[in-house]
Amino acid sequence: MIKVLFVCLGNICRSPMAEFVMKDMVEKRGIADNFEIASAATSDWEIGNGVYPPAKKKLSENGIDCTGKTARQMTKADYGYYDYIIAMDEGNLRDMVRFVGDDPDGKVSLLMEHTSTPRDIADPWYTGDFEQTWKDVNNGCSCLLKKLGF
Ligand code: 4NP
Repeated sequence: MIKVLFVCLGNICRSPMAEFVMKDMVEKRGIADNFEIASAATSDWEIGNGVYPPAKKKLSENGIDCTGKTARQMTKADYGYYDYIIAMDEGNLRDMVRFVGDDPDGKVSLLMEHTSTPRDIADPWYTGDFEQTWKDVNNGCSCLLKKLGF
């Protein structure tokens, strides 16, 4: 079982989009049994809140349901439990230090680091561009799956 945790600042836009896109990809490829996939926030700002409506809409326009997902903050225990901790931007990496220390097991990476265009995924909470997030998250997840051998 490969355990993947996607992480962003609020866990209401980018990381839940990545969580549900990745779940959809592994489902469609018939490899879902190989994975446990979740998402969490670095901050405690949105704990308990559902996926932000424009992010939810972008998922549902593409046939992906994220009903029931509520934001949670990551914990130190997540670092032990998950095999891959995938952040959305450099700010997340800085904010994660208190949960992952100096990443002794080398589990932490940026999602776009796995693509041919390594960079941050812009925060649509601020940019309003959920289409760009959708494209980046799809590209990132598909490249990550390839790196994992699928
Ligand atoms: P996310 O976006 O990190 O992609 O979930 C944000 C969501 C909420 C806030 C900031 C970013 N906020 O300030 O509450």
